[in-house]
Amino acid sequence: MKRVTVVDIQNKKGKEPIVMITAYDYPSAQMVDEAGVDIILVGDSLGMVVLGYDSTLPVTMEDMLRHTAAVVRGSKRALVVGDMPFMSYQLSPEQALDNAGRFIKEAGAHAVKLEGGEEVLEAIRKITSAGIPVMGHIGLTPQSIHKIGGYRVQGRDEETAEKLKKDAKLLEEAGCFSIVLEAVPMNLAKEITESLSIPTIGIGAGPYCDGQVLVYHDVLGLFQEFKPKFVKRYAELRGEIVEAIKRYADEVRERKFPDEEHSYL
Ligand code: KIV
Repeated sequence: MKRVTVVDIQNKKGKEPIVMITAYDYPSAQMVDEAGVDIILVGDSLGMVVLGYDSTLPVTMEDMLRHTAAVVRGSKRALVVGDMPFMSYQLSPEQALDNAGRFIKEAGAHAVKLEGGEEVLEAIRKITSAGIPVMGHIGLTPQSIHKIGGYRVQGRDEETAEKLKKDAKLLEEAGCFSIVLEAVPMNLAKEITESLSIPTIGIGAGPYCDGQVLVYHDVLGLFQEFKPKFVKRYAELRGEIVEAIKRYADEVRERKFPDEEHSYL
């Protein structure tokens, strides 16, 4: 089966919406791949939805490499993007390239994503000059949570809206193959999308982006700590899982499981 490439993704702009979702392990990668998504993002959101931290900041390169490798093994068709964790690309362009290279060589990812605008251009240039595709990420950038002061919509006033428009252009010029727009008013996302020749992928950025991304645990109702306005749950699996485990526990306690059908004679 042929893998989706960054060129396929770029060719979708203006033609058909791009579907991206996160996944963090082998079975979730198998399922989202079978469902036919275009891109699997191994997001550093794994720090919150898988590892139980209260932000993405503690996530390490080792966490990301292990999970990215599992997702690559579990998928056959989708493009796999590894999310560069906090402090893996901010120190220098050389550090950024070194760590981006580890995603490709050690985990088998096909591209990397990193957060930020003007301040990360040198890192992006360095990584793309080595032939590694980079996805940008602006708007609400969770790795800067202490600077922006909370998980809230970005670009509501003219000054920050102008900065986002400028950053998007700079990311395109630096060589990004696409840009995630997170928590941005929909008309600003529309303006940015129309100003670029590369695709935008929105999360909480309205319907006018070239594609959409959501977090796997949010789509399936597996994460209940909080639910941003932009999250649509397509299933409520948490309750079903708890019920199934309760039935198992009851049957063991009542000595109903294992029965003859599930035992060796
Ligand atoms: O880490 C992540 O899952 C992300 C998406 C929300 C875009 O960056």
